Amino acid sequence: MSKELYAAVDTFLAERLVGSDPVLDAVRKSCIDANLPAISVVPTHGKFLNLLARMLGARTILEIGTLAGYSTIWLARALPAGGRVVTLEADATHAVIARTNFLRAGLTNIIELREGPALTTLAELAAADRETRFDLIFIDADKPNNAAYFNWALKLSHPGSLIIIDNVIRDARILDSASSDPSIQSRRQFFTLLASEPRVSATALQTVDAKGHDGFAMALVL
Ligand code: SAH
Ligand code: DHB
Ligand code: MG
Repeated sequence: MSKELYAAVDTFLAERLVGSDPVLDAVRKSCIDANLPAISVVPTHGKFLNLLARMLGARTILEIGTLAGYSTIWLARALPAGGRVVTLEADATHAVIARTNFLRAGLTNIIELREGPALTTLAELAAADRETRFDLIFIDADKPNNAAYFNWALKLSHPGSLIIIDNVIRDARILDSASSDPSIQSRRQFFTLLASEPRVSATALQTVDAKGHDGFAMALVL
């Protein structure tokens, strides 16, 4: 199977199950216009995140890695009245584009974007209110920090929270134990951490889409 075929099937599914949405279409266009990397979740996965949040009855969501806010908007739309999303982004250019998109989506009251390296903003978030807990946490930023983000996610969760980590397969490169790429080694080590963490029950799903063969891990906090 080729990437083109994965993309064609994904388009087939998205046309039928997601459809067009003026706001989300504009967000995707904002990425192209600003020449951002094409690494937002695909529409079918955005809707998957939305359905997961609704299944959980999530009221509070934390996202690490905003980019243009595409996944953020899918997540925010899953929330009941009074719900909130905190999304963390290090890149000032991405943050400006995301804020414009949240305005466009009418979600500025629900989404709080915190700018800065996530390890800093996570520490600030935890220090500001020691009771802060999130029902759903989506980790999708710089991959070598996934273990650190996962440890923060555990601190900021409660039994029943769901932690999702994106891009854990990378065209099967995680199989390469001799890889000199730190982002591959860190992914491999992350699975060891996940498997040995008694506070969660975890699995991972392989996915194929326009971006290739990848996947996400998900951990239910016990
Ligand atoms: N979740 C988005 C895609 C995020 S892409 C979506 O699916 O729509 C990853 C983002 O993480 C990029 O915008 C990048 O700037 C950001 N990022 C990278 N390193 C970071 C860090 N240390 N702290 C916070 N954000 C970071
Ligand atoms: C990359 C990051 C992502 O979040 C993603 O979904 C795809 C690719 C990357 O850094 O290459
Ligand atoms: Mg991703």
